[in-house]
Amino acid sequence: MSLKSNYRDGDSFSRKSKKEGYRSRASYKLKEILEKEIKVSKDQSVIDLGSFPGGWSQVIKNLLGHSGKLVAIDIQPMEPIKDCFFLEKPIEDITEEDFKEIKEFLPFDLVLSDMAPNISGIKERDDSLMIDLVDRVLFVIDSFLKAKGSVVIKVFHGESLDYTNNALKERFKNVKIFKPKASRPNSKEIYVIGKELKII
Ligand SMILES: C[S@@+](CC[C@H](N)C(=O)[O-])C[C@H]1O[C@@H](n2cnc3c(N)ncnc32)[C@H](O)[C@@H]1O
Repeated sequence: MSLKSNYRDGDSFSRKSKKEGYRSRASYKLKEILEKEIKVSKDQSVIDLGSFPGGWSQVIKNLLGHSGKLVAIDIQPMEPIKDCFFLEKPIEDITEEDFKEIKEFLPFDLVLSDMAPNISGIKERDDSLMIDLVDRVLFVIDSFLKAKGSVVIKVFHGESLDYTNNALKERFKNVKIFKPKASRPNSKEIYVIGKELKII
Protein backbone atom coordinates (compact mmCIF):
# COMPACT_ATOMS: atom_id res chain seq x y z
CA MET A 1 0.00 0.00 0.00
CA SER A 2 1.40 3.43 -0.92
CA LEU A 3 1.87 6.10 1.72
CA LYS A 4 -0.86 8.17 0.04
CA SER A 5 -3.49 5.44 0.08
CA ASN A 6 -2.52 4.60 3.65
CA TYR A 7 -3.16 8.25 4.57
CA ARG A 8 -6.59 8.12 2.97
CA ASP A 9 -7.41 4.90 4.77
CA GLY A 10 -10.03 5.67 7.41
CA ASP A 11 -8.40 3.32 9.90
CA SER A 12 -5.25 5.41 10.08
CA PHE A 13 -7.44 8.30 11.28
CA SER A 14 -9.10 6.01 13.84
CA ARG A 15 -5.69 5.05 15.22
CA LYS A 16 -4.58 8.69 15.22
CA SER A 17 -7.71 9.81 17.10
CA LYS A 18 -7.12 7.21 19.84
CA LYS A 19 -3.51 8.29 20.17
CA GLU A 20 -4.34 12.02 20.26
CA GLY A 21 -7.29 11.68 22.66
CA TYR A 22 -10.14 12.54 20.29
CA ARG A 23 -13.47 10.79 20.82
CA SER A 24 -13.93 10.11 17.13
CA ARG A 25 -12.02 10.14 13.86
CA ALA A 26 -14.57 12.73 12.70
CA SER A 27 -12.42 15.30 14.53
CA TYR A 28 -9.95 15.25 11.63
CA LYS A 29 -12.69 16.09 9.12
CA LEU A 30 -13.57 19.24 11.03
CA LYS A 31 -9.92 20.13 11.67
CA GLU A 32 -9.25 20.08 7.92
CA ILE A 33 -12.38 22.12 7.14
CA LEU A 34 -11.40 24.74 9.70
CA GLU A 35 -7.74 24.83 8.64
CA LYS A 36 -8.70 25.44 5.01
CA GLU A 37 -11.97 27.37 5.19
CA ILE A 38 -13.13 28.88 8.49
CA LYS A 39 -11.25 30.67 11.23
CA VAL A 40 -12.62 30.18 14.77
CA SER A 41 -11.58 32.89 17.24
CA LYS A 42 -11.40 32.55 21.01
CA ASP A 43 -14.41 34.74 21.78
CA GLN A 44 -16.87 33.14 19.36
CA SER A 45 -19.95 31.04 20.04
CA VAL A 46 -20.44 27.81 18.14
CA ILE A 47 -23.28 25.27 18.01
CA ASP A 48 -22.51 21.61 17.19
CA LEU A 49 -25.61 19.75 15.97
CA GLY A 50 -25.37 15.94 16.20
CA SER A 51 -22.39 16.18 18.54
CA PHE A 52 -22.15 12.65 20.04
CA PRO A 53 -19.60 11.24 20.89
CA GLY A 54 -17.96 14.69 20.89
CA GLY A 55 -15.05 14.67 18.44
CA TRP A 56 -16.09 17.94 16.76
CA SER A 57 -16.94 19.52 20.12
CA GLN A 58 -13.42 18.70 21.38
CA VAL A 59 -11.87 20.41 18.33
CA ILE A 60 -14.00 23.55 18.86
CA LYS A 61 -13.41 23.59 22.61
CA ASN A 62 -9.64 23.66 21.99
CA LEU A 63 -10.04 26.77 19.83
CA LEU A 64 -12.34 28.77 22.12
CA GLY A 65 -11.16 30.79 25.09
CA HIS A 66 -13.03 31.58 28.33
CA SER A 67 -15.10 34.26 26.61
CA GLY A 68 -16.27 31.87 23.86
CA LYS A 69 -19.12 29.37 24.12
CA LEU A 70 -19.78 25.90 22.76
CA VAL A 71 -23.32 24.51 22.60
CA ALA A 72 -23.77 20.86 21.60
CA ILE A 73 -26.96 18.93 20.80
CA ASP A 74 -27.61 15.25 20.25
CA ILE A 75 -30.37 12.68 20.83
CA GLN A 76 -27.78 10.55 22.57
CA PRO A 77 -26.28 11.47 25.94
CA MET A 78 -22.73 12.80 25.56
CA GLU A 79 -19.94 12.50 28.12
CA PRO A 80 -19.46 16.07 29.43
CA ILE A 81 -16.91 18.46 27.93
CA LYS A 82 -15.82 21.25 30.29
CA ASP A 83 -17.90 24.45 29.86
CA CYS A 84 -19.86 22.94 26.96
CA PHE A 85 -23.61 23.54 27.21
CA PHE A 86 -25.10 20.21 26.12
CA LEU A 87 -28.75 19.62 25.22
CA GLU A 88 -29.87 16.01 24.96
CA LYS A 89 -32.79 16.29 22.57
CA PRO A 90 -33.65 15.92 18.90
CA ILE A 91 -32.98 18.95 16.73
CA GLU A 92 -36.67 18.86 15.76
CA ASP A 93 -37.58 19.90 19.34
CA ILE A 94 -35.17 22.84 19.70
CA THR A 95 -36.75 26.20 20.51
CA GLU A 96 -35.45 29.58 21.68
CA GLU A 97 -36.40 28.56 25.26
CA ASP A 98 -33.59 25.98 25.21
CA PHE A 99 -30.99 28.74 24.96
CA LYS A 100 -32.39 30.86 27.79
CA GLU A 101 -29.48 29.97 30.10
CA ILE A 102 -26.86 31.03 27.54
CA LYS A 103 -28.68 33.87 25.82
CA GLU A 104 -25.72 36.24 26.22
CA PHE A 105 -23.80 34.05 23.75
CA LEU A 106 -26.44 34.31 21.02
CA PRO A 107 -26.45 34.67 18.03
CA PHE A 108 -23.86 32.05 17.02
CA ASP A 109 -20.82 32.76 14.84
CA LEU A 110 -20.73 29.22 13.50
CA VAL A 111 -23.33 26.46 13.06
CA LEU A 112 -21.99 22.92 12.58
CA SER A 113 -24.02 19.88 11.63
CA ASP A 114 -22.55 16.38 11.36
CA MET A 115 -26.04 14.85 11.80
CA ALA A 116 -27.05 11.86 9.73
CA PRO A 117 -30.28 9.85 9.77
CA ASN A 118 -30.32 6.11 10.36
CA ILE A 119 -29.55 4.78 6.91
CA SER A 120 -32.11 2.37 5.43
CA GLY A 121 -30.25 1.73 2.17
CA ILE A 122 -33.29 2.94 0.21
CA LYS A 123 -31.88 5.97 -1.59
CA GLU A 124 -35.09 8.03 -1.86
CA ARG A 125 -35.90 7.46 1.80
CA ASP A 126 -32.37 8.29 3.02
CA ASP A 127 -32.25 11.45 0.86
CA SER A 128 -35.59 12.59 2.19
CA LEU A 129 -34.57 11.98 5.84
CA MET A 130 -31.33 13.89 5.26
CA ILE A 131 -33.26 16.80 3.71
CA ASP A 132 -35.53 16.87 6.80
CA LEU A 133 -32.42 17.25 8.97
CA VAL A 134 -31.02 19.96 6.68
CA ASP A 135 -34.32 21.85 7.02
CA ARG A 136 -33.82 21.86 10.78
CA VAL A 137 -30.28 23.20 10.35
CA LEU A 138 -31.68 25.94 8.06
CA PHE A 139 -34.11 26.84 10.84
CA VAL A 140 -31.17 27.20 13.28
CA ILE A 141 -29.30 29.35 10.72
CA ASP A 142 -32.32 31.57 10.07
CA SER A 143 -33.09 31.98 13.78
CA PHE A 144 -29.72 31.97 15.56
CA LEU A 145 -26.78 32.67 13.19
CA LYS A 146 -25.07 36.06 13.24
CA ALA A 147 -24.87 38.13 10.04
CA LYS A 148 -21.58 37.19 8.30
CA GLY A 149 -21.57 33.90 10.28
CA SER A 150 -20.67 30.52 8.78
CA VAL A 151 -22.06 27.00 8.57
CA VAL A 152 -20.79 23.48 7.86
CA ILE A 153 -23.41 20.82 7.03
CA LYS A 154 -22.92 17.13 6.32
CA VAL A 155 -25.10 15.75 3.50
CA PHE A 156 -25.07 12.82 1.08
CA HIS A 157 -24.03 12.97 -2.57
CA GLY A 158 -27.20 13.41 -4.65
CA GLU A 159 -30.46 15.07 -3.75
CA SER A 160 -29.58 16.37 -0.28
CA LEU A 161 -26.34 17.87 -1.64
CA ASP A 162 -28.17 19.78 -4.40
CA TYR A 163 -30.88 20.88 -1.98
CA THR A 164 -28.38 22.18 0.58
CA ASN A 165 -26.11 23.80 -1.98
CA ASN A 166 -29.08 25.80 -3.34
CA ALA A 167 -30.43 26.70 0.11
CA LEU A 168 -27.00 27.96 1.23
CA LYS A 169 -26.44 29.94 -1.99
CA GLU A 170 -29.61 31.89 -1.19
CA ARG A 171 -28.29 32.74 2.26
CA PHE A 172 -24.47 32.96 2.06
CA LYS A 173 -22.05 35.00 -0.07
CA ASN A 174 -19.64 32.10 -0.45
CA VAL A 175 -20.64 28.41 -0.71
CA LYS A 176 -18.28 25.45 -1.19
CA ILE A 177 -18.57 21.67 -1.35
CA PHE A 178 -15.82 19.88 0.56
CA LYS A 179 -14.73 16.24 0.94
CA PRO A 180 -12.15 16.01 3.76
CA LYS A 181 -9.32 13.46 3.49
CA ALA A 182 -10.49 11.84 6.74
CA SER A 183 -13.86 11.06 5.14
CA ARG A 184 -13.70 7.54 3.71
CA PRO A 185 -13.50 7.80 -0.09
CA ASN A 186 -16.30 5.24 -0.49
CA SER A 187 -18.61 7.11 1.92
CA LYS A 188 -21.54 9.06 0.45
CA GLU A 189 -20.98 11.88 2.93
CA ILE A 190 -19.83 15.29 1.80
CA TYR A 191 -19.86 18.71 3.48
CA VAL A 192 -21.37 21.99 2.30
CA ILE A 193 -19.77 25.12 3.71
CA GLY A 194 -21.48 28.51 3.75
CA LYS A 195 -19.50 31.65 4.63
CA GLU A 196 -20.71 35.19 5.28
CA LEU A 197 -24.42 34.96 5.98
CA LYS A 198 -26.07 37.71 3.96
CA ILE A 199 -27.85 40.49 5.79
CA ILE A 200 -31.37 40.48 4.37
C1 LIG B 1 -21.73 11.07 12.73
S1 LIG B 1 -22.39 11.33 14.32
C2 LIG B 1 -21.60 12.81 14.83
C3 LIG B 1 -20.15 12.65 15.19
C4 LIG B 1 -19.59 13.89 15.86
N1 LIG B 1 -19.53 15.01 14.92
C5 LIG B 1 -18.21 13.67 16.40
O1 LIG B 1 -17.27 14.31 15.94
O2 LIG B 1 -18.04 12.88 17.33
C6 LIG B 1 -24.02 11.88 13.97
C7 LIG B 1 -24.84 12.20 15.20
O3 LIG B 1 -26.06 12.82 14.78
C8 LIG B 1 -27.03 12.54 15.77
N2 LIG B 1 -28.38 12.81 15.26
C9 LIG B 1 -29.02 12.18 14.25
N3 LIG B 1 -30.27 12.68 14.11
C10 LIG B 1 -30.41 13.66 15.05
C11 LIG B 1 -31.47 14.53 15.41
N4 LIG B 1 -32.65 14.48 14.78
N5 LIG B 1 -31.29 15.41 16.42
C12 LIG B 1 -30.09 15.46 17.07
N6 LIG B 1 -29.04 14.63 16.78
C13 LIG B 1 -29.20 13.74 15.78
C14 LIG B 1 -26.80 11.07 16.07
O4 LIG B 1 -27.34 10.71 17.34
C15 LIG B 1 -25.27 10.97 16.00
O5 LIG B 1 -24.70 11.00 17.29
